[in-house]
Amino acid sequence: MNHPVAIAPSILSADFSKLGEEVSAIDQAGAEYIHIDVMDGHFVPNLTFGPPVIKAIRKCTKKPFDVHLMIAPVDPLLQDFADAGADIITVHIESGAHVHRTLQHIRKLGKKPGITLCPATPPEAIAYLMDMVDLVLVMTVNPGFGGQSFIESQLPKIAAIRRMIDATGRDIRLEVDGGVNKETAPKVIAAGADVLVAGSAVFNAGVSYKDAMNALRPPR
Ligand code: DX5
Ligand code: ZN
Repeated sequence: MNHPVAIAPSILSADFSKLGEEVSAIDQAGAEYIHIDVMDGHFVPNLTFGPPVIKAIRKCTKKPFDVHLMIAPVDPLLQDFADAGADIITVHIESGAHVHRTLQHIRKLGKKPGITLCPATPPEAIAYLMDMVDLVLVMTVNPGFGGQSFIESQLPKIAAIRRMIDATGRDIRLEVDGGVNKETAPKVIAAGADVLVAGSAVFNAGVSYKDAMNALRPPR
């Protein structure tokens, strides 16, 4: 299924002293998703926010919360993220031995399951999960921080996963995350991505959020 390219600003790069206002601002500026980077200081070397912050900003927008869990273990906290207002819950294939069961758990909670891969993980790793997910997230940086440089070697992986998705006939979004800006966005779109996560390219662009997001979209 072909979707117009959607933008998912990562609030990791937002001004945390006014997070609710920032979420409302990117909503009004045209963001299709709100990308929320949850980090536990264990699976990745950074610590961000969890269910209480998600619950607090839930009232600031009706746009889907695209929650990227960079945590391990995942299962003990899934109910809390679901209750806090997550819409898509994306877990790392590298986060544990029982990711298939974790995706079943997310679906049982009534949420959209997503799977994501670190740069070193081959696309084949998710072959047996394609019937379980509504979204595949390809990391184009090593997870943990915003503002990193795009890892070009991931472009063929994006294309391979686009072929895997198309072969399923299912409506699965292909999201790319990390170092996406006006130079790299055309490359990932050409490779098959239809959801672009952007943190610094939106919040630190020096232009309006609307202009920053539109600079990432394909020309009409
Ligand atoms: C990194 C996060 C990304 C990051 C993107 O671990 O998953 O979402 O915030 O930030 P930029 O767009 O600045 O690379
Ligand atoms: Zn992310």
